[in-house]
Amino acid sequence: MLIIAVVNLKGGSTKTTTAGHLAQAFHEAGMRTLGVDADGENESLQGWQVAGDLPWPVITMPVSNLHKQLPDVVGDRYDVVVIDTPPMKAQRGTVASAMRIATHVLVPMAPTPIEYDRLPAVRELVDEVAAVRPDGKPPIHAVLLTRVKPRAASTQVYRQLITDDGVTVLTAQIGSLERFAQSWGDPMSGALDTPYGAAAMELLDLSRLQEIIG
Ligand SMILES: Nc1ncnc2c1ncn2[C@@H]1O[C@H](COP(=O)(O)OP(=O)(O)O)[C@@H](O)[C@H]1O
Ligand SMILES: [Mg+2]
Repeated sequence: MLIIAVVNLKGGSTKTTTAGHLAQAFHEAGMRTLGVDADGENESLQGWQVAGDLPWPVITMPVSNLHKQLPDVVGDRYDVVVIDTPPMKAQRGTVASAMRIATHVLVPMAPTPIEYDRLPAVRELVDEVAAVRPDGKPPIHAVLLTRVKPRAASTQVYRQLITDDGVTVLTAQIGSLERFAQSWGDPMSGALDTPYGAAAMELLDLSRLQEIIG
């Protein structure tokens, strides 16, 4: 089972938009998908599920012992769990808890200096939780570039900087587009054919790769 924690230090970094479209893409790929809304301040993923009548369930779990509660709730009924987390700065315990059980920590971010400046804090927590994870290893840690402007040279610059820092940057990237900006609360279809679908498949590939190399 894939457990993808969508994480960033601050609000407004496209976490919920990313969690929603990724979950939809996995659902469209035929995988049994569950959304977990761990952001008790906003409950935006849950709200989207209701308003958009999304075809995959969302449960709310804004708790700092997700790693204990989630396995019992999920059982073996899902192939993919996508956790929308609260801003790490405000709710470090909840995010750390999600990271403890996650197979993947996905950080959506715009390729800008202010967003890049926030990455080390996330990385520190990823490394910190490794010791208390069942396997003693950090989860797969990847960045998804979002709100990317067409033809901006900065995209490649940040892609390289983050890669040089030792963090995987997904090949798929999400453009700064009305389609995504306006998507909250609406039904979704065709997510698999967007770059979010490509990102979902890359996350799958990363876990297969990790299984092989151990
Ligand atoms: N690809 C995109 N292009 C343009 N705007 C986007 C895109 N994805 C998200 N947004 C906008 O960015 C803002 C923050 O997104 P949201 O998913 O709510 O972030 P978070 O959950 O991290 O607070 C929202 O106004 C949303 O509409
Ligand atoms: Mg959110």
